[in-house]
Amino acid sequence: MTSGVASNRVIVTGGAGFIGSHTVVELVGAGYEPIIVDDFSNSKRSVLDGLEAILGLRVPCHVVDCNDRDELCRVFEAEGPIKGVIHFAAFKAVSDSVSRPLAYYGNNVGSLVTLMEVMQQFDVRDLVFSSSCTVYGQPDKLPVTEETPRKPAASPYGYTKQICESLIEDAVRAELPLRTVVLRYFNPIGAHPSSHIGELPLGPPENLVPVITQSAAGLRGQVTIFGDDFETSDGFSIRDYIHVVDLATAHVKSLQWFGSQGAAPMREVFNLGAGSGSSVLEVIAAFENASGISLNYRIGERRPGDIEQIYANVDKAERMLRWKVERSMEDALRDAWNWQLALAGK
Ligand code: WQD
Repeated sequence: MTSGVASNRVIVTGGAGFIGSHTVVELVGAGYEPIIVDDFSNSKRSVLDGLEAILGLRVPCHVVDCNDRDELCRVFEAEGPIKGVIHFAAFKAVSDSVSRPLAYYGNNVGSLVTLMEVMQQFDVRDLVFSSSCTVYGQPDKLPVTEETPRKPAASPYGYTKQICESLIEDAVRAELPLRTVVLRYFNPIGAHPSSHIGELPLGPPENLVPVITQSAAGLRGQVTIFGDDFETSDGFSIRDYIHVVDLATAHVKSLQWFGSQGAAPMREVFNLGAGSGSSVLEVIAAFENASGISLNYRIGERRPGDIEQIYANVDKAERMLRWKVERSMEDALRDAWNWQLALAGK
């Protein structure tokens, strides 16, 4: 059992992933001691080397599947006392979830249940949960606030995020000793400015920005823009793109925010986006400005499941977490491009 001794040790599940690894950097910068738990099913061990190059230290890492309760207990036992947990570990590809629903429910929901049980066993109470704007579906009104009603999810992936959020809500309602922050990410893009870590899709990427950078690097054919007949200003779909480092700092702010709260069970939800929408064409133009490269693209059919537009109202996170976006879309695309160039050199 955790003795309740003051600790700054934070377990980061999925800590070798895209957002997880950038959050590990910010945690160290803020004086925390992150411990990575990752089964490397969707990340590479080389990320640990990238983190060492940035931090000048080797972040402890346990190769564990969060569905494996015994193994997870061993980590809590070995690394305690633990201040809190940031739970990133999940499968997150929308189209993949359509073809592998059981894997998504088993992994995304099952690992959260297991983690919360182990947290209770070791009296670890603070949980930051990685959720997604996908829980909103296509909102009727924009920008979305945390009170915007969630609509039926458009994919098994989105539905697992809705279930996990409800699971946390029910746990707090049952007064399990949990203080939780649920972070709803919009579209994370970019890479660490050092180019030692970044987005590392295993296999062909689905997300727009790695598709762009791989096309610009000649690793894939021209970019296909999925549809130009949306009811938007330029006919292209709109998203709220946020620099992954800004997203990472919000996790540190969430842990620090717990310090100003009472001990009672709680759940607080925050939107994390730039607070503005950009169309696919605007992203391409911004990439061309940031990289100096003229991108080769074509207009194709809409991608099944894509919503027309979404972007966030981030007032609540700014107000309560004292968090603010500090990096622009161009910063993110420049960092993404430099990371792609660094990968070519590896
Ligand atoms: C962005 C825009 C596409 C690729 C998903 C998940 C979300 C989060 C981020 C996990 C869309 C267009 C894309 C391409 C294109 N993941 N596009 N050509 O679908 O908004 O969100 O990833 O948390 O939960 O749902 O991101 O980057 O795939 O697409 O035109 O080759 O770019 O239509 O408008 P998406 P995306």
